[in-house]
Amino acid sequence: SQTVRIALLGAGTVGAAVARRLCDPRRADLYAARVGRPLELVGVAVRDTTRSRDGIDPALLTADASGLVERADVVVEVMGGLDPAPALLEQAMRCGAQVVTANKQLLAQQGPRLEALAAENGVGLDYEAAVMAAIPVVAVVRDSLAGDLVTSISGIVNGSTNYVLDLVARKGVAFDDAVRQAGELGYLEADPTEDLEGLDAAAKIVLLARAAWGADVSIDDVQRTGITGLTDDDFETAAANGKIIKLVASAWRSGPPENPRVEMGVRPVALPQDDPLAQAREGANVVIIEAESAGRLRLHGAGAGGEETASAVLGDIVRAARRVVRSA
Ligand code: NAP
Ligand code: HSE
Repeated sequence: SQTVRIALLGAGTVGAAVARRLCDPRRADLYAARVGRPLELVGVAVRDTTRSRDGIDPALLTADASGLVERADVVVEVMGGLDPAPALLEQAMRCGAQVVTANKQLLAQQGPRLEALAAENGVGLDYEAAVMAAIPVVAVVRDSLAGDLVTSISGIVNGSTNYVLDLVARKGVAFDDAVRQAGELGYLEADPTEDLEGLDAAAKIVLLARAAWGADVSIDDVQRTGITGLTDDDFETAAANGKIIKLVASAWRSGPPENPRVEMGVRPVALPQDDPLAQAREGANVVIIEAESAGRLRLHGAGAGGEETASAVLGDIVRAARRVVRSA
């Protein structure tokens, strides 16, 4: 093929932003130069093909996701959920397609199985967007620090709860109103309890622990408390003590590097105002990585939102497309 054929599964908050960028002529030239061949969006799978979607040619829309997968060199899953996403990714890998996903719950639950399947079929599985959206943290802990020993990772890894906590603590907005506003900005998951009960943050810390240490860990290993149990009293006490409540996710390693013991937690913590983790405002995320030789690294930026997450998805698409061109 003269192009690298891209199938997009999903055109919601993230997928629509990815599709618009792939169809933008200025970006198209850039991607062709970076990949060595033009990228061609061959279809966009959605549930409702009758709804018009800004910036997406209606002729690209299809309800037949499985049929679309068969026509692609790179399959990009941004539909979310646990059904039918895994079956479609499996189908893609068995057809020899490179796979990109932003689906952290799927990866947290089935990541090792999908990684094994990718290896078996000689294809890549990229998922930078699944953790902290625009912030390239997976690449940092898995690749950039591969010559070092990461000792701990802690951060604000969920944009919507950070938005809610920030609005309640700093602007006195009622909890329910803040949740509604986070939804309007496209920060919340299709099931908002994933965010509010800390499941989204737990999935992300699992993915980072696997990326940093190759650890055999699951979401059940995370000590988890969400933010729905917080009361006005908690916010008032924190403010009276000059503190701000944040939902902190952390993972730390002990034991020998070849057989590390990994512990993980997600819980609301009252942090001093000048704590680096307290600096994340609104939908921002921040992560602090401690490594034996590198010392302390801090990454800060947008942790949710369509356009921001699309940045990471498009980076994975370019990487995957380069593999397609190399193996041709
Ligand atoms: P979303 O707005 O709910 O969009 C989901 C899209 O998938 C919709 O276009 C929907 O079609 C389509 N879809 C769902 N089930 C389908 C099915 N069975 N067949 C065909 N199409 C189907 O979700 P999102 O916020 O874009 O998130 C997508 C993924 O990215 C999730 O895994 C999420 O965790 C992850 N993520 C999101 C963000 C963020 O800030 N939003 C950040 C990082 C990662 P219809 O449009 O027809 O309903
Ligand atoms: N719901 C997620 C969040 C989206 O609020 O961080 C980004 O992963």
